[in-house]
Amino acid sequence: MTVLEQIGGHGVVPVVVIDDADHAERLGKALVTGGLPCAEITFRTRAAQAAIEVLTSAFPEMLVGAGTVMTVEQAQAAVAAGSRFVVSPGFDEPVVDWCLAHDVPVVPGVMTPTEINMALGKGLNVLKFFPAEAAGGASTLNAIGAAYPDVRFIPTGGIDAGNLVDYLRVPTVVACGGSWLARRELIANGEFRQIEQLTAAAVDIVRAVRASG
Ligand code: 3PG
Repeated sequence: MTVLEQIGGHGVVPVVVIDDADHAERLGKALVTGGLPCAEITFRTRAAQAAIEVLTSAFPEMLVGAGTVMTVEQAQAAVAAGSRFVVSPGFDEPVVDWCLAHDVPVVPGVMTPTEINMALGKGLNVLKFFPAEAAGGASTLNAIGAAYPDVRFIPTGGIDAGNLVDYLRVPTVVACGGSWLARRELIANGEFRQIEQLTAAAVDIVRAVRASG
């Protein structure tokens, strides 16, 4: 199974901003126990690279990727640390080219048809739709998807347990990203039991939507 198929299988990608890599192991345990052995560790903090190293060595079964990757150097650091995929908020050609040259699955962010065209030009057809809620939410994604039936989206930005169902029902959506499962403060305050519960609740929503066809 490809990395992107694995992401699709999970249905939700926890987006993580972590300030201290010492929290990474308990975070990983909460996500795995909650039923989502998957995380996008954002390069918004200095701890990102070390956190990826901790997660990949402590939880080999976990699919760990890097988010908010804006430069080739960050992509290199992420992959060196064990990241199996790279996500960016926008379409950054050098990052995309580096990932393609190194067989690293890359999911650039797009918000407009023009940006989708740029990604398609690189042969990419699984794209992050960001910022999903602010860009018009599931209805915008439905409208865009009508023009791009072969593109698959991972909407991210403003998604939580309250609107997850709306996005999962969009036919072109393979998974949703979001920080609501493992919010920065929950990690910083050591509230891993809550992260586990939020994760389990998200898994239940994915299962319910998929069971209903
Ligand atoms: C991202 O980096 O993908 C977004 O900031 C996550 O958006 P959210 O915090 O609204 O879930």
